[in-house]
Amino acid sequence: MEEVLEALARTDPEAARIVEFYRGSDTSTLVREADRVCRGVHGDGVWIRGLVEFDNHCQRSCSYCGIRKDNANVRRFRLEPAQVVETVREGWNAGLKSFVLQGGEDPAYSVAMFREILDGIFSFAPAAAVVLSVGIRSKRDYKALREAGASRYLLRFETSDPVLHRLLRGGIPLSRRLRALADLREAGFEVGSGYMVGLPGETEQIRIANALLCRSLGLDMVGIGPFIPHPDTPLGNSFQEPIELAVRATALVRLLLPQANIPATTAAGSLHKAGREKLMAAGANVLMPNLTPGSVRKDYLLYPGKICLDESGLDCLRCLDVRTGLVNKVVRTGRGDSPSWTARQEGAKTSKSPLENPS
Ligand code: 5AD
Ligand code: FES
Repeated sequence: MEEVLEALARTDPEAARIVEFYRGSDTSTLVREADRVCRGVHGDGVWIRGLVEFDNHCQRSCSYCGIRKDNANVRRFRLEPAQVVETVREGWNAGLKSFVLQGGEDPAYSVAMFREILDGIFSFAPAAAVVLSVGIRSKRDYKALREAGASRYLLRFETSDPVLHRLLRGGIPLSRRLRALADLREAGFEVGSGYMVGLPGETEQIRIANALLCRSLGLDMVGIGPFIPHPDTPLGNSFQEPIELAVRATALVRLLLPQANIPATTAAGSLHKAGREKLMAAGANVLMPNLTPGSVRKDYLLYPGKICLDESGLDCLRCLDVRTGLVNKVVRTGRGDSPSWTARQEGAKTSKSPLENPS
């Protein structure tokens, strides 16, 4: 670790100082500093994104994930584009302006189907921000999805350790994940990634490397959640690490990436009843109420003990309003583009970078 930090001090001295601070601080000191930095950039606002889990088919068998292909106990569903559009419409009518469409890695969900969804949404909500989270796809698909109007894409790298990554993700190398992130950036998306904390085999050094990778990727959004063992997976008997690891990770990423949008994840709220409040107090500034139709909600279980299975999207909105107030923050329902993304867009108008403006 010490050699890694010495090397980092030469290439990115600010990051090295932040990591030193993280290692030397107890959680309450770390959280206080991350909260100060978060409020300095984002104020007291917390962006609300409506989450629609529209498809639990997945061609992969990641060993941590409840909807892995090899889990025969899952009742599979794939919402029709029209159902996705109607679900988003309900959220839009409730005042939401940004929506995350999340699904497994499912080639049967074609670009044409996504186009139908996007056209449908923009017919009544031209100003909505649509965020996709549907795994690794071809560069050509990414370009087509961007051209169809999706503006952001979430693809967590899950763990930055190449050996652990390959083990957990059914042999797919970390480099493939990173290439997909580069493809997304090149296609013009506002890019989000992130990782789980507390995976079996993960060390403190890996946790620090995870946060540093987020910084070196220059992410606009970073999702961090505790790993929660799912009984129907090969990791079902793993140890459950406490929420504190996710709190510390969130604070570290906030210090390394002050401008990023960072959600207080549902996994944190599922592991601990005040998990989302703890992450908001440690620098998270986004919440994602679940709008998934009740008929399929219980079939999208990446981990056990998931919250909000019986509440409606509107119940969740009211609940989140209260929870946000508990940490002296307020919910906001705008698009909530990340400041780093907005700055890059402004910069691109004056100087064209080949990475961000492919010809
Ligand atoms: N515990 C916590 N998070 C999980 N995810 C998948 N499986 C689990 C689990 N068992 C996370 C992954 C994925 C995101 C959608 O959910 O990080 O990218
Ligand atoms: Fe869903 Fe609280 S956020 S019930």
